[in-house]
Amino acid sequence: MSETTDRIASIERDALAALAAAEDDAAIEAWRTRVLGRSGELTGVLRGIGGLDADERKVVGAEANRVKGILEAALDERREALRRAALASTEADALDVTLPGRPLRRGRLHPITQVRRRILDVFERLGFQVIEGPEVELDAYNFGALRIPEHHPARDMWDTFWFDEEVQGPDGNERAPLLLRTHTSPMQVRFMQEHEPPIRVAVPGKCYRYEATDATHEWMLEQVELLAIDEGISMANLKGTLQEWARQMFGPSRKVMLRNSYFPFVEPGVEVAVDCFQCPGDDPSCPVCRGSGWLELMGAGMVHPEIIAAQGYDPERYTGFAAGMGVERVAMVLLGVSDIRDFHANDPRFLAQF
Ligand code: DAH
Repeated sequence: MSETTDRIASIERDALAALAAAEDDAAIEAWRTRVLGRSGELTGVLRGIGGLDADERKVVGAEANRVKGILEAALDERREALRRAALASTEADALDVTLPGRPLRRGRLHPITQVRRRILDVFERLGFQVIEGPEVELDAYNFGALRIPEHHPARDMWDTFWFDEEVQGPDGNERAPLLLRTHTSPMQVRFMQEHEPPIRVAVPGKCYRYEATDATHEWMLEQVELLAIDEGISMANLKGTLQEWARQMFGPSRKVMLRNSYFPFVEPGVEVAVDCFQCPGDDPSCPVCRGSGWLELMGAGMVHPEIIAAQGYDPERYTGFAAGMGVERVAMVLLGVSDIRDFHANDPRFLAQF
């Protein structure tokens, strides 16, 4: 063995090891230049053959060409192996039937929508027809027709979002103030104007109030208004209807309280509350009842005879009851939510619970 054949053997050994370690096209190309390129290691040996004596030239030449053939074949093989590996991994990405499926996120109804529908289901079974009305309302309906005149202190009960523009009013008044309705009660008047008794309607809808928010107050809220006008309707009908509704909504163990209250459009007026679901009823730091033990759900009462008369009905013959409840308040009780602001904050982690 000459020095040169030793050198060829060591080039072969090192080159094959280096090729096996080459992991991408760039590494393979660098390898090719270093070993088989114009000034590569093996090329250098082949070039030097001319300077050897005849016998050695034959042996070294044959050996160098044999190794060149081996390395070129190894190069092709390595390229092919890398190409196949790359293909296999993209195919695996495209379709690996053993991967667990990605869960599909199912849509759901907003909790307030769910609760509004439950409220209305009960009233529909009790014989009420569901109707809707405008969110942008005239001052005349939101307040005037409900016996809440301009400059009357009762207006302070509803902090109002007013529009800058004024429109033509119902009585031809050129400058009728426009607002976002503060309650669904104006629909009592709108419906009575267009329909004859007997009347049984439930009116769901959004209302807006320009007020500071806390755990039980929001500037946007949903209400469901009730109106029943007929001959012989009494406070007992109001109480019975609301009690039956509460029993179907909350079950028999929730306590319902009616207490005296004032609203300009009813006489007498009541406030309807349920016992606190958050605390034992005497915790002054309770965000829901503040220690009172009760959460107010709605206002209600016997429709004021002046309002019945103003729509052209004989108040001696027709009487009626009305109620307006906060859907979010009902949802708080049903779903055990202690802060009303969570409902419209649109945090998917909150909404996904219902
Ligand atoms: N509209 C009142 C409010 O938003 C609630 C209310 C009270 C509605 C008495 C009624 C009622 O129908 O009779 O605060």
